[in-house]
Amino acid sequence: MKNYKIAILAGDGIGPEITAEAVKVLKLIEQRNDVSFELMPALFGACAYFATGDAFPQETKDICDAADAILKGPIGLSHEESKGIPIDKQPERGALLPMRRRYNTYANFRPVSLPKELAHFSPLKPEIIGEGIDIIIVRELVGGLYFGEKELGVDANGQRYVKETLEYTEAQICQIMHQAFKLASHRKKVLHNIHKSNVLKSSVLWNEIMEEVAIEYPEVEVINILVDAAATLLCLKPTQFDVMVMENMFGDILSDQGGGILGSLGLMPSACLGDEKSYYEPSHGSAPDIAGKNIANPYSMIGSVAMMLENSFDMQDEAKNVWAAMQGVFADGFSTADLSKSGSGVNMISTVEFGDKVVEKLSNMPKVG
Ligand code: IPM
Ligand code: MG
Repeated sequence: MKNYKIAILAGDGIGPEITAEAVKVLKLIEQRNDVSFELMPALFGACAYFATGDAFPQETKDICDAADAILKGPIGLSHEESKGIPIDKQPERGALLPMRRRYNTYANFRPVSLPKELAHFSPLKPEIIGEGIDIIIVRELVGGLYFGEKELGVDANGQRYVKETLEYTEAQICQIMHQAFKLASHRKKVLHNIHKSNVLKSSVLWNEIMEEVAIEYPEVEVINILVDAAATLLCLKPTQFDVMVMENMFGDILSDQGGGILGSLGLMPSACLGDEKSYYEPSHGSAPDIAGKNIANPYSMIGSVAMMLENSFDMQDEAKNVWAAMQGVFADGFSTADLSKSGSGVNMISTVEFGDKVVEKLSNMPKVG
């Protein structure tokens, strides 16, 4: 029997509600497979800041250090509430970015997955969705503008100014490229490289290194697209994409567009992979406006569990079952109030009921282990 330690960081806003549903699924996976999980809850985000004065306290670091994988809920406060916390202690700068840096989780996989069962959530026309959308955005997660040198000051003329640098080393570009090419070679063998080399020198180096790495993957066809054009094509013809690789900031923006294509960021789980440790999180924020109402869909959090099974625990078949169970609940006509309007023909259920239905579906699936 394999034993894994999982740090559980429920986070802020809707985090604790949707994390509770993901934990139910983890407990069922233990029953169905030759595996045991030691769940280690810890404070992370604004909740940690209010309890300890630090959004990523030492105790949480120790728990994450000891874990085989980390399941992290959304963090953050409303724009107004954030102003009550010093800028560098706010959950994003004080917890999330330090977590990415601490574990060097450089490869962020963000699936934009819209099978037919979920097509009704998308704002795109049926003829654009076709047989369904199935893209993985591979976002570089520990470089670029997010982590480059920053300077804020007042110049000789008394004008306030800011400088933020977009920095990448060869090694950083190389490692994300290998991840993207490997993924593409296991899928449709097409990699869309997203860049802005007509303006940015960082993209010139990015493309140069991409071409060098490409030699090791002759089976993968590379298609280069400028990031602005990619934004348009994602709306007009999303089915042409399979794996897309891009730097950090481009990935932040285009992955949210991916959420728009699906109809909600609530349908976007993600994996943040490092060579030593990986963590899994929804791509969305903590949605403070709907927190505590039992209406947030736990899909992104349960989907993050599926990505953990696949990437950290080598449980690919059970991961597929988890995806199928979640999508099956939608296929049966159920939805939650954050995703669907009442009266729109769906059978409205709560966060907890959605989690229960996923558990019920999964427990009826044949065991794989
Ligand atoms: C994301 C989020 C984060 C990011 C924020 C919360 C710092 O938007 O994971 O996409 O910009 O990376
Ligand atoms: Mg984002």
